[in-house]
Amino acid sequence: MKRTAYLFVLWGFLASALAFGQASAAASRALDERVREFLASQKGQWRQENVTETDGRLLHDLILKRGYTRALEIGTSTGHSGIWQAWALSKTGGSLVTVEIEEFRHLAAVRNFKSSGLDAYIDARLGDAHTLVGTLSGPFDFIFIDADQNWTLNYFRALLPKLAPGGCFAVHNVVSLGYMKGVRDFLDHVRSLAFMETTVEPSSGGGVSLSFKKK
Ligand SMILES: C[S@@+](CC[C@H](N)C(=O)[O-])C[C@H]1O[C@@H](n2cnc3c(N)ncnc32)[C@H](O)[C@@H]1O
Repeated sequence: MKRTAYLFVLWGFLASALAFGQASAAASRALDERVREFLASQKGQWRQENVTETDGRLLHDLILKRGYTRALEIGTSTGHSGIWQAWALSKTGGSLVTVEIEEFRHLAAVRNFKSSGLDAYIDARLGDAHTLVGTLSGPFDFIFIDADQNWTLNYFRALLPKLAPGGCFAVHNVVSLGYMKGVRDFLDHVRSLAFMETTVEPSSGGGVSLSFKKK
């Protein structure tokens, strides 16, 4: 009798786990479909210094591959790169904090995040990242800098203690904006640190540097 009750409870547990698994897989497929539709509807419409689709996909794939869950972006603009990152984070169980100084861009990004269905994964902040980064508690395992490139080294210094071991500090346009002192100083500094490993992603048109903090 005891054994029958045990098997009955076990069967109930397995049946509800299966039902839960099927429901969450269906929700994840529905979200994928919604994000794809949103991105297709916006193709060619990203005109506020947004990343290209290639670079957006690069961020998405990196987050998925490494299983990152705590992401920070400086420079939201209207949200293109934020959507690609949050899409990956929706699969890893993570979320994104993103910071933008221009109110009209921040508000447009908030609308885009909602329309894409990814708003639950994004904390969009309006403010000057120069001061805001100091108030963020971290740790982060993925940081993407796509704002005022001359400030890159300052962002790096402020955020390095908040970058988790194994985490990645990524900077957009280090090739196309490589003439800027802030970019050069950042690359020289990060490459001088033995505990950081830096590469520049060749598939990105503007060049994305990826600096990994060794574990
Ligand atoms: C290249 S755009 C970002 C594009 C965005 N990552 C995307 O792909 O959609 C740079 C953004 O950084 C913002 N920005 C510049 N300085 C900033 C600062 N100090 N704090 C926060 N945002 C800043 C600009 O207003 C601009 O919208």
